[in-house]
Amino acid sequence: MLNIDPGVYVRREVFLAEREALFATTWQLLGPVAKLVERRSYVATEIAGMKVFAVRSNDGVLRAFRNVCRHRGARLLPEGEGTCGPIRCPYHQWQFSDAGELLKAPWYGEEAGFDMADWPLEPIAVGEWRGLVFVAIAPAVGLLEQLGDTVAELAGEPIESYAPVRSERMVFEANWKIYTDNFVEGLHIPGIHPAFHAAIDFEAFQTTAHDGLVRMTAPPKDGLWYRGKWLWMWPNWTLSLFQGGMNTSRINPLDEGRTELIYNFYFDGSQDAEEQERTIQGTLGVVREDFEVCIETQKNYASGGYRPGPLSPRHERGVAYFQAKVAEVLAGRFDR
Ligand code: FES
Ligand SMILES: [Fe+2]
Repeated sequence: MLNIDPGVYVRREVFLAEREALFATTWQLLGPVAKLVERRSYVATEIAGMKVFAVRSNDGVLRAFRNVCRHRGARLLPEGEGTCGPIRCPYHQWQFSDAGELLKAPWYGEEAGFDMADWPLEPIAVGEWRGLVFVAIAPAVGLLEQLGDTVAELAGEPIESYAPVRSERMVFEANWKIYTDNFVEGLHIPGIHPAFHAAIDFEAFQTTAHDGLVRMTAPPKDGLWYRGKWLWMWPNWTLSLFQGGMNTSRINPLDEGRTELIYNFYFDGSQDAEEQERTIQGTLGVVREDFEVCIETQKNYASGGYRPGPLSPRHERGVAYFQAKVAEVLAGRFDR
């Protein structure tokens, strides 16, 4: 099995095709439902540049919309989380209810045929699974179908009982697939994460890949916060278990050469604040160790200086699986 064509990681038109054929059609992890329990609480984010938000409407229903004003397209809510009243566009102050109806269009003027009922916010799909909220702009399959083997994999873990404690956002200069290739293999652990390597039984590291899930396991030695199981889910989210909790992340492209990671850390209450902080910082430290190799690999792909090389049958089956899924999405769109 050969690594995928490096052009797929650097070309603008591939990113635009992924936005349309992959990011708009799949369920995207928005975050813990605990952030969307209070009436009028919202979480706003981007999906490959497409602005969306979810809101717990005043009638108690969880809804999601494009974060795009129906007048001339301004962003309605800033990215992040908070509480909204009626949603007022900052540009010309059109006002929408938290259920998406247009309520006011100040100073618009009289126009025959202009009906506010014709201009509600554009709804998108929203779903909840085990305490996690997902949104999808135009889902090709149901949320459970996309989750695939992950449902059974986590059936015995009480993930919905964990409380979200911290969010972190990190940005680096590499294509989202370079980072994903890196995340779904353990082969780089000895070279890139020496301290982490020393804390696991690397000889027993195992990777499986099927039905939307790459599962990596290794027995941890004493003192490691991780429980020795790291999961990646198609197309772009991760979940890692640690003692007394877990983290999730979404790998979101900003463009073809820049990626943001949105991490959430959850705990079950068995760790005190100091232990939680050690777990959070330990995880973020390992994550950051991957940035440099991703950034420099991106440059090699962009320069034309790399021709596809071989993938390890033992350790890189997750890479092969992910790349095959991407190739399926892009099939027929580009001459390669
Ligand atoms: S763009 Fe929102 S009111 Fe004009
Ligand atoms: Fe890594």
